[in-house]
Amino acid sequence: MNTRVIGQPLNRIDGRLKVTGAARYAADRTFEGLAYAVGITSTIAAGEILGLDARAAESAPGVIAVLHAGNVERPRRCPEDISVGERRPPFEDNRITYAGQFVALVIAETFEQARWAAHLVNVRYQAEDFVISLDDGARVHGLPADPDDEGESRGDPSREFERAAVRLDQTYTTPVEVHNAIELHAAVARWEGDRLIVDDSTQWVVGQREALAETFGLPKENVEVRSAFIGGGFGSKLFLWPHSTLAALAARHVQRPVKLVIDRRSQFTTAGHRPFTRQRIRIGATPEGRLASVRHDSLSHTSLVHEFLESCTDVTRSLYRCSNVGTSQRMVPVNVGTPTPMRGPGETPGMFALECALDELAVALAMDPLELRLRNMPDRDEGKDLPWSAHTHRECLELATRRFGWDRRGPSPGSMRDGDDLLGWGLASATWPGHRDEAHMRVEFHADGTVRVACATQDIGTGTYTVIAQVVSEITHLPFERIDVVIGNSSLPEGPISGGSMVTATVVPAVAEATRQAVAALKHVATRGNAPFAGRSPAALELTAAGLASGKGAPIPFGDVLQAIGLPEVVGNAHAKPGQESEQVSIRSFGAHCVEIRWDPQLARLRVSRVVSVIDAGRIINRKTAANQVHGAITMGLGMALLEQGQYDPRTGRVVNDNLADYLIPVHAGTPDIDLTLLDRPDPNIGEFGARGIGEIGLTGIAPAIANAVYHATGRRLRHLPISIEKLL
Ligand code: MOS
Repeated sequence: MNTRVIGQPLNRIDGRLKVTGAARYAADRTFEGLAYAVGITSTIAAGEILGLDARAAESAPGVIAVLHAGNVERPRRCPEDISVGERRPPFEDNRITYAGQFVALVIAETFEQARWAAHLVNVRYQAEDFVISLDDGARVHGLPADPDDEGESRGDPSREFERAAVRLDQTYTTPVEVHNAIELHAAVARWEGDRLIVDDSTQWVVGQREALAETFGLPKENVEVRSAFIGGGFGSKLFLWPHSTLAALAARHVQRPVKLVIDRRSQFTTAGHRPFTRQRIRIGATPEGRLASVRHDSLSHTSLVHEFLESCTDVTRSLYRCSNVGTSQRMVPVNVGTPTPMRGPGETPGMFALECALDELAVALAMDPLELRLRNMPDRDEGKDLPWSAHTHRECLELATRRFGWDRRGPSPGSMRDGDDLLGWGLASATWPGHRDEAHMRVEFHADGTVRVACATQDIGTGTYTVIAQVVSEITHLPFERIDVVIGNSSLPEGPISGGSMVTATVVPAVAEATRQAVAALKHVATRGNAPFAGRSPAALELTAAGLASGKGAPIPFGDVLQAIGLPEVVGNAHAKPGQESEQVSIRSFGAHCVEIRWDPQLARLRVSRVVSVIDAGRIINRKTAANQVHGAITMGLGMALLEQGQYDPRTGRVVNDNLADYLIPVHAGTPDIDLTLLDRPDPNIGEFGARGIGEIGLTGIAPAIANAVYHATGRRLRHLPISIEKLL
């Protein structure tokens, strides 16, 4: 399909607001009578609050109240069918299950007064033993069952593994990773009677409204959640966390608007993280490199107050051809804050294990790792037992390796050099499911010649505002200046969560449908009574850049048409939902990454020097914002491979590197040259235009590609992330 606006590399329509500081984030909101809250968090990892002395704090300057489990009306626990970040609401009781848990909240006239008074609160604890590691957690809370026969399986993986000519049995770990969005979590809550209004940094205004309504026993119509701009989320802002509940609780208690911005330290404890994973992979193969059996068993931690499972092994059931596959994923509760989805949850750590294991198998078979993958391409999704909607895995691998120059790769470790540097070339696949949800969308054509398009979804920095405007512009020929995209408010027509890379795939068909309905409504009113096109057939009218036209008459701008009839607006309302596609086909995105690393053993310097990626995410709606997502994901993958690691002090259970000086992330100077190709192939089964999401797929496969490149340079197989310099020495 030929398009004029869709597919172009266009700037964000909200870009100017952001770079000029005009965009208002949650913490920027201020209201008459605003008070400031600062949390007091537990210094022990397990135990009981015995007593809390707030007298000094209460008499400190500016303090309005000090709240804790002993003096507030307790928030309710949300029912299980409501998704929340942490199931246990704050201040439910006096139990402590992790260091960093909110135990009290100081509310004061200024932020500084609240922070000062927070230091004056004296909490007495009864500390108890706690566990941080998976092994200790398994010992104390019960050892998970033998994984050999647990979980899901097809065929007989155990038997075929025993029979296989070539066998691999290895264990991989990925550390705790923390989302660390630049914009800290923030909530500004106020009550108008029994109506709760929260400006919140959330990836899901609709879900946040529902969770807050349950927490405070309100009908959801009485809750409004607003999130016009979000400075990154990566999963940590998907669901309700204690600080948002506390902001609302405090605002109700002091009868004033209350702002609560958590600090960077609390980002590491009370707003989610990617859990530690330990994954054992057993693969049996034929001498020709066909997979005979695959077993993938994953263990990850969760907290004691919430069950969060990192689904590392789902991808293993589908990515390659194999008749005998067994997978299990289990969790062990330990005394840390609750983990949550982090960009590419499941697939990202899962594919670190799987794609490294394939590289190891290729070495064992003396086979090129590209060839090994190509020999095991499935012709259907064997995990779901469905045909593929679009299977471009092979194409991505072939194109990425061609662009990279893979055929010049010396097969043995340490065989490639450039000056003092040992070069390593590594390869891994990328994949992410193609999700689509339902969305309501309202499009209004106004008599002033503008279009307003509204949906209760949000833009987490990925380009949702722009993508929505593009679809309206594509159909109406209007320039962006006349299209007003209104999102980030739970009172608008219900739209999707910014999670699972599904907003674009969800809103694009909805915007198209609502816009067409509005155009039809416009043509209808334009041809009735004594309207400008009275007597013509609506079907004879066309909406062009110049306006509404019929045959050879001069076009009339649609605003003028509406003014002529005295109508303020015409409206299109769509409720677009996926059909039965996902039961008939497997909708999945694929990709491939080739990575070059340089290791200078004399300087102990490891650099990623080149990344070549090919990503198929269906139709690309905006080449610029889409590429931006993949560049960001690749950079995040560098951090995962080489730097990121949340570390707990085994003596206290506290995070020791809970700040951006000690928790290492990539910086611009360390990022490589990235050669990215987006295949731009419409998916036939995911709605009009065929766009699948692109936010997460880029991260999958980067860490294993780097680990495989490090092996190729050094001969060292590092199965435990991050690949820090000391592990290479
Ligand atoms: Mo993503 S982890 O679904 O924000």
